[in-house]
Amino acid sequence: MDTIKKTDTCIINTYARIPVVFVKGEGSTLWDDQGNSYTDFLAGIAVASLGHCHPGVTKAIADQAATLVHVSNLYYTEPQAELASLLVEKSFADKVFFANSGAEANEAAIKLARRYFNEKGQPERFKIITMTQSFHGRTMAALSATGQDKIKEGFSPLVEGFVHCPLNDLEALTTLADDSVCAVMMECVQGEGGVLPVNADYIKAVRQLCDEKGILLIFDEVQTGMGRCGTLFAHELFDVKPDIMTLAKALGNGLPIGAMLANEEAAKGFSLGSHGTTFGGTPLVTSAALYVLETISNPDFLKETRDKGEYLKEKLTSLMAKHPSIKAVRGKGLLVGMELEGGAAEIVVKAMKKGFILNAIQGKVLRFAPPLVITRAEIDALATALDGLLE
Ligand SMILES: Cc1ncc(COP(=O)(O)O)c(C=O)c1O
Repeated sequence: MDTIKKTDTCIINTYARIPVVFVKGEGSTLWDDQGNSYTDFLAGIAVASLGHCHPGVTKAIADQAATLVHVSNLYYTEPQAELASLLVEKSFADKVFFANSGAEANEAAIKLARRYFNEKGQPERFKIITMTQSFHGRTMAALSATGQDKIKEGFSPLVEGFVHCPLNDLEALTTLADDSVCAVMMECVQGEGGVLPVNADYIKAVRQLCDEKGILLIFDEVQTGMGRCGTLFAHELFDVKPDIMTLAKALGNGLPIGAMLANEEAAKGFSLGSHGTTFGGTPLVTSAALYVLETISNPDFLKETRDKGEYLKEKLTSLMAKHPSIKAVRGKGLLVGMELEGGAAEIVVKAMKKGFILNAIQGKVLRFAPPLVITRAEIDALATALDGLLE
């Protein structure tokens, strides 16, 4: 049986897969089993930020795999300690909890916010405000937090205590932010929601409102973090700090790792035994993530990401004059969305035939989240191909 047939027969059918079998990757290029090559403008959904099979990441994995892979969190390991201390050094945070995915990092953040107020003797403060169109993952609490009905269909009863608020609407948020609220949780750019960046004034006002009301502010940087938006964490673009932040995706460049970061005060919500996971922060994934963080946090690397993000946006925007079907081009850094009148999924299929991997979200938005090592020449080639495809 071939790969596609085996997959379709034996794997529960939750993904509408494009019928291609990838066998190899290097930098921004992927190869299928027929020998065709593709330039990857999705990076495994904003994951392979250093490119596929980056030699430094490969070496970190191989060396660690030959040394020590897993011992559990009942003991100490060097890579975990090194990664945690570098995350603390490079961020607003004082403490880290390691998980295995974005959804799990968000579960940890949700639990921390609730338990923080429990510890303070305020268990009635358990509500979390999240944004309409947000995406926070597929576990029960993360999907209850998610502001998109289609993600929740058929899973009732949901975890209670989540209320949704339109993004960039301060008045609505202020009305909802009463004494029953423990946290506001949001993305700086809604990735799955359609590449929708938050307004700078709004996010500052959210921080202020949370300070006034004693509410914890959680930034879900699972997609926007680790250099994707041109700064190490997207909130740096707005000069606003959260109390809690979640990371995953690019942190391991493809190895499954998530992290929840918190400032000293918020971290008080957890104590011995209050949360845990067998695999969180194994030596294997943390040694890979350490290499990734050291590389991406280099200011020159981040500047180059910002510059290439601008270049990509300019190239895509320049297509607007010729193609009225493009309604908008938006995003931050190398997380860019092109909103079309519709038919984004068809463009993805056509682009694949021309050797480009793109992604469609919300039916009408093309999302570009290439490896951060993408070149200007590769961006030029994409723009030329899109010009033809949009005819
Ligand atoms: C903002 C955001 N949060 C959480 C998640 C869930 O991450 P994971 O799929 O690793 O559970 C995603 C995944 O797309 C995401 O974009």
